[in-house]
Amino acid sequence: MYAALLFAALCFFKTTYACIYKYGTSLDSLAAPNGGTPWDHGLHGDDWIGVDATGKPWACMSGIRQSPINLPNANILDNRGSRIPRKFRTQWSYPTIYSNGSNVEVINTGHTIQVEWLSPYAADVEIVVPARQDRNTQITAVLSMNENDQATTVQATPLQFHFHTVSEHLIGGEYHPLELHIVHRVTDLPACTAGCFSVTGVLFELTQSEDNPFLEAIWAAMPMREGAINYLPPDAQIRLEELLPPPSSREYVTYEGSLTTPPCSEGLLWHVMLKPQKISMAQWTKYKTAVGFKECSLKNATATATPSAKSGSRQPRHHHSRHLAAAAPGNPDDYTCNVVAYGTNFRTPQRLFGRAVKLAS
Ligand SMILES: *[C@@H]1O[C@H](CO)[C@@H](O)[C@H](O)[C@H]1NC(C)=O
Ligand SMILES: *[C@@H]1O[C@H](CO)[C@@H](O)[C@H](O)[C@H]1NC(C)=O
Ligand SMILES: [Zn+2]
Repeated sequence: MYAALLFAALCFFKTTYACIYKYGTSLDSLAAPNGGTPWDHGLHGDDWIGVDATGKPWACMSGIRQSPINLPNANILDNRGSRIPRKFRTQWSYPTIYSNGSNVEVINTGHTIQVEWLSPYAADVEIVVPARQDRNTQITAVLSMNENDQATTVQATPLQFHFHTVSEHLIGGEYHPLELHIVHRVTDLPACTAGCFSVTGVLFELTQSEDNPFLEAIWAAMPMREGAINYLPPDAQIRLEELLPPPSSREYVTYEGSLTTPPCSEGLLWHVMLKPQKISMAQWTKYKTAVGFKECSLKNATATATPSAKSGSRQPRHHHSRHLAAAAPGNPDDYTCNVVAYGTNFRTPQRLFGRAVKLAS
């Protein structure tokens, strides 16, 4: 926080073409100019008062079902009898994502490193819901189902996955260095025709030496600069299944929460795997650098007079329009940016407000 303020001060007193940018607010950001209130992780979410692109206030500060939270560890949940019946567990099956050189994107959004795919992806993620549904049946219904309830499942389709450092969820008060979020959409419930969301979180712990091989392809393509999108090279693969614990150790904690970034919308079914995966020191360092602070200067000092001019050469193109708009002050390609400090992109834990938190083991 003090570092952010210091950098802001440096910006203020220097000329605009040699300025240190806070991650998330730099010239390079992919954020659309009229995409709602700008935000960053500088105060880890404690200043997220704003509106979305349609003028609707965010739920971040007013909500009472916000994420992330400090999760009790498995023993505590077990002792409380706070369990999901075994037969009502969510099931995950993710086939390998194959790159053809132009269908898998690794995006530095200005807030996170996110992976999206442009080819259809036949993942099989099944969430349990009551067999008899009405318009009020939520995607979170499994949290209050009893052993004898009649159940069925709905499909959750993965949309993208991204990472946070440090972790957003705590377990028994403890942070991990990294957390993976796989974001899914559910549409086949009467209340979800416009889309309900479910996120699966995976925590990572540090190893001294070996890189996690299942992160390698993503890490190799990771754009260091905000606003940049790299394609996974042809023949590269993402074995998403291997970024989760093995199927036999998918013990998880589940609860009703929210998006952990603005607009902090609620009603999400969260799953957080209790068994952490591994990340090497080198991989963690690269991620912290990608979400770090940067010093940016115009490649061509004569262009300083018109920093807001768009050259029209902005790359890359993207199928989702929200990524197409360049940030207001200029074309990122006109700037050279060097990372000057590690960054973070996590939200602080939120109050529970009496919500049910359940263990599935
Ligand atoms: C790669 O996949 C994308 C999305 O499915 C497709 O549009 C494109 O034509 C493919 N490119 C090649 C070289 O096969
Ligand atoms: C960079 O500066 C040179 C010389 O002043 C000028 O001719 C050129 O148009 C500039 N290029 C850009 C991209 O502004
Ligand atoms: Zn996330």
